[in-house]
Amino acid sequence: MTAFAYRGGVLHAEAVCLEDIAGDVGTPVYVYSQTAIERAYRSLADSIDARICYAVKANSNQAVIATLARLGAGADVVSGGELARAIAAGVPPGEIVFSGVGKTREEIARAIALGVGQINVESEPELRAVSELACAAARSAVVGVRVNPDVDVNTHRKIATGGRLHKFGIPYQDVARLYAQAHGLPGLRVAGLAVHIGSQLLDPAPFERAYRRLAGLVSALRADGFSVEKLDLGGGLGIAYTAERALDPTVLADVVARTLGGLGCALVVEPGRYLVGNAGILLTRVILTKRTPGRTFVVVDAAMNDLLRPTLYDAVHPVMGVRRAPPDARRAAADIVGPVCETGDVLATAVELPSLAAGDLLAIGGAGAYGAVMASSYNGRALVGETMVCEDRFAVIRPRLDPAELLALDRLPPWLSGPKAG
Ligand code: LLP
Repeated sequence: MTAFAYRGGVLHAEAVCLEDIAGDVGTPVYVYSQTAIERAYRSLADSIDARICYAVKANSNQAVIATLARLGAGADVVSGGELARAIAAGVPPGEIVFSGVGKTREEIARAIALGVGQINVESEPELRAVSELACAAARSAVVGVRVNPDVDVNTHRKIATGGRLHKFGIPYQDVARLYAQAHGLPGLRVAGLAVHIGSQLLDPAPFERAYRRLAGLVSALRADGFSVEKLDLGGGLGIAYTAERALDPTVLADVVARTLGGLGCALVVEPGRYLVGNAGILLTRVILTKRTPGRTFVVVDAAMNDLLRPTLYDAVHPVMGVRRAPPDARRAAADIVGPVCETGDVLATAVELPSLAAGDLLAIGGAGAYGAVMASSYNGRALVGETMVCEDRFAVIRPRLDPAELLALDRLPPWLSGPKAG
């Protein structure tokens, strides 16, 4: 059951009419369903016997993190900014995993001072830095060693992370050496291993390959006398945007049980997209329709700066008219494009839509993950706003940032602010 459905011919988010949201707060705007987020969390928690640390990067709005924190989720963060967001939204520091390939010393020191649950290290210099900073703070830092398992995954090349040539993790053949080194450094408690092989994965096979490799490492490390208490299995669960078949979490749970079940390790997963992806839409209004000899363009008020995924990853998102067209309405293929001055500013290509007029509203689905968080103000556009629906209520959870407010942040250097030369 989806949270976005037609009622009386008009698309609603739960019990709230999307026309009302557009009328009240304007467009473009993101709309999230709290109930859909809660449902996704519960279905994952029921499927897999692992601690769920929500990958905040997918959608770091306080309201979204708080929704998940209230259900008991921890958080996976990749920057000081995300760490601050997770804590502000009520995630206890001890339930936070700090991941990422380039943590600064300031970020590491902050994480240690706050007492984050685990810092996943991805390189030898980083391991040393965590040790030094923990000692300086007279604290002990819990670390996980992120493994690069060298597995190929079938997803967009920009979001595959577990291959030999990717920047992430410690090459698996070096893990035993680094693990031993970590045990020798002061200020560290080594909890175990971590892995994340990529995002939007629909096939369980690469997970299986990666987890088998992880199991092999656990056995080898234990044979060398080291303890491995915890395995962080990353995120990556793929969802259905349009025609794809989502990877069922119970299938992933079976893979985990088969490959890692007998090891007696505590398990952590770090899903982002699975929890929020289909819980959000981007609501946009048609500015005009333009026909050219080869194409029909529907120019809308949302653009690549609001939802970058189609441009960056050739992602295909579903497009729905907020007013349902009669079943016998004539449909024709159109490209949904924004006003940004780039040919790549396309939100959807060749979608079969009934004819649309200026002012009509469209909802772009699957926009809850990696939508608003990746938005910018490119082309001097307002930074897009966000709203959340719960049953028959809705609230603005981030107002649109007006271009005037952004303009006010600019400063002229002194040599440009005086009277004009010449
Ligand atoms: N853990 C780590 C260490 C990660 O790097 C990521 C995602 C996740 C967990 C969560 O992965 P998920 O469950 O959401 O697949 N902007 C891209 C996705 C980038 C994902 C980066 N890392 C997109 O729009 O598809």
